[in-house]
Amino acid sequence: MPDSTVIDYDGLIPNNVGLNEDLRVRKALETWHPGYIDWWKSMGPEGFQDFPVFLRTAIGVGSDGWAKYGFVKMPDYRWGILLAPAVEGRTIPFGAHKGEPAWQEVPGEYRAMLRRLLVIQGDTEPASVEQQRHLGSTAPSLYDMRNLFQVNVEEGRHLWAMVYLLQKYFGRDGREEADDLLRRRSGHQDTPRMLGAFNENTPDWLSFFMFTFFTDRDGKMQLGALAQSGFDPLSRTCRFMLTEEAHHMFVGESGITRVIQRTVEAMKAAGIDDPYEIERIRALGVIDLPTLQKKANLHFSLTLDLFGNEISTNAANAFNSGLKGRYREDKIEDDHQLTSSFYPVLRQRDGAIINEDVPELSALNMRLRDDYVVDANDGLTRWNRLLKTSGVNFQITLPHVAFNRRIGEFNAIHTDTQGNILTNEAWEATKETMLPSTADNEFIISLMQPVREPGQYAGWIAPPRYGIDNMPGDFEYVRMTS
Ligand SMILES: [Fe+2]
Ligand SMILES: [Fe+2]
Repeated sequence: MPDSTVIDYDGLIPNNVGLNEDLRVRKALETWHPGYIDWWKSMGPEGFQDFPVFLRTAIGVGSDGWAKYGFVKMPDYRWGILLAPAVEGRTIPFGAHKGEPAWQEVPGEYRAMLRRLLVIQGDTEPASVEQQRHLGSTAPSLYDMRNLFQVNVEEGRHLWAMVYLLQKYFGRDGREEADDLLRRRSGHQDTPRMLGAFNENTPDWLSFFMFTFFTDRDGKMQLGALAQSGFDPLSRTCRFMLTEEAHHMFVGESGITRVIQRTVEAMKAAGIDDPYEIERIRALGVIDLPTLQKKANLHFSLTLDLFGNEISTNAANAFNSGLKGRYREDKIEDDHQLTSSFYPVLRQRDGAIINEDVPELSALNMRLRDDYVVDANDGLTRWNRLLKTSGVNFQITLPHVAFNRRIGEFNAIHTDTQGNILTNEAWEATKETMLPSTADNEFIISLMQPVREPGQYAGWIAPPRYGIDNMPGDFEYVRMTS
């Protein structure tokens, strides 16, 4: 076994999986590589491929100090295959095989299911890069532009992570899936990405911050569940991906915090107390809080659809087989088999929303979604603390889980953000008070003027508290002059 704590940077593909001794997989990946670079150049950040960007690159997989910062042009980024260190004697933590040694090879009977899980996770990674590819040109600062590109190259690396597993463990099928991952396109009519939220537009920076706050957080939950997998290479892969995912959520959470900070500062300076004086607030060139709430409503509801149907045999099978656990399975105290337990699921029955206990195994999507809602709510408290201390009478809240849904129990009904069921007419008459209207979106777009002077920020967003890697406030994070 290769020493998994050391990353080999000598070859074309940085890795800690002993690729040098694994000629078959190395060749498959080297064959896939040019197609990936083509994809990156044509579908990655548009207009910024030739500029040096201050990016972090992983140089280790330990919890302390795995990143190194430096200037690199994005197409030259060292995308690599990095797995968290193996845990000696690890056993399958849940399901029918609980307690057996973790699998180092794909269990034959679960091959199709595992492949499907890898492809669905893998498909989201390049999709978000495609969704965000036009944002560089309207970045509110070089700092923000750099954070966008950091998220993008890491999503690219997450694609590599899934492609490695497909090519190493699924032979020819895996190679075909890896090629298809480069073929689908976010929002494309004929070859869309697999999941709905990954085919939506990300047209402006407020959408980007909401996406990284809400939708990357779904990524965190999914990876958290897959990190528990009895298939050890998947567990190790996801554990390392989670260390990168933390930065993506930081970008979203701190981004919105800075938007709120700027808005309340501008309101104060203009002597405006009422957050609903929307026209006056917008005239200050900042984003009013009710519009932020509508954007949160939209991105939260789109993201909930990613958890799938509340009641799901696929989810039960993935758990029973030992492939996909619950979020932080290892911190939960129960029998980890769930053959006789129940879980409350919100359901729609005869025009009412009710709670119903169902066998827990079939409710695992619901459980993951519940864990997600708790996690997202934690993130909101930081925004709301800032609002409270600033003295503005407004709080950002999550809408009801039945609001604006396309998938699952509530896809056939309309509700308001409190979960009260609405008639079609009432929905049509009120939806623009709950979701961004065309006018709201146009206003946001009108603010998206690029700012490229080092240390300068667009008027709708406050500067960050700290620089990346402790760099000074006027640091040139993207060098567009050289
Ligand atoms: Fe990712
Ligand atoms: Fe992410």
